Amino acid sequence: MSKLKVVTIDGPSGVGKSTVSRKVAAGLGWTYLDTGAMYRAVGVQCQRAGIELTDKAALAVLLERLDLQLLPPLHEGDDVRVLLNGEEISAAIRSPEAGMLASQVSAIPAVRAKLTALQQAMGKAGEIVAEGRDTGTFVFPAAAWKFYLDAPPEERCRRRAGQLRAKGQPVDEQALLAQIIERDRNDCERAVAPLRMADDAVLIDAAKLTADEVAEKMLAFIERDLQQ
Ligand code: DC
Repeated sequence: MSKLKVVTIDGPSGVGKSTVSRKVAAGLGWTYLDTGAMYRAVGVQCQRAGIELTDKAALAVLLERLDLQLLPPLHEGDDVRVLLNGEEISAAIRSPEAGMLASQVSAIPAVRAKLTALQQAMGKAGEIVAEGRDTGTFVFPAAAWKFYLDAPPEERCRRRAGQLRAKGQPVDEQALLAQIIERDRNDCERAVAPLRMADDAVLIDAAKLTADEVAEKMLAFIERDLQQ
């Protein structure tokens, strides 16, 4: 299988994947694909439509009609913008609750099949930096550069709390840590495409490095290969 001109960055929630992915995409001049935003959008849409996650027929209709667009942020360093059926839901998908909903819908095989196919279509032309839980293992197994970022839950909680506070949101650190641990469990234990490091991924300990240092490390790997 020939390698795709794609970078994958996977790892648990709160490890700093988004910041690093944005920096790597900017450094290469490639497109950043935030796959988590897509799971968040489906989770929020299920909740808004009052769909029980066990109701396969209703979910199938929702997925069939799903009109999801990812747009570049208005300001550098912001999250990608997400339009669902034409409505901007960029802020609604970023709450910790939306993260939990995303984690729940992401265990449903029909949801994964739909979003994986959309992601593969978005990455077909290459030159993308895909971030998520399964981008190196399932979405782009032929990606040329795969990275796995890891850090202990307490460190991830500390960072996420800082980000939420910086946005002016109140934080209950104990509840946040419990949520991170629960999402880790959901994401690692689900039957389809669980969170796992690809055999050919490079492991990076995010606890010991700043986002800039992690991005520089990744860019050094990629640029060395691109120059050969
Ligand atoms: O990266 P994030 O926090 O935005 O992701 C939200 C949830 O979506 C995460 O808990 C699990 C799920 N997800 C997934 O299952 N596969 C992906 N490729 C990306 C996210």
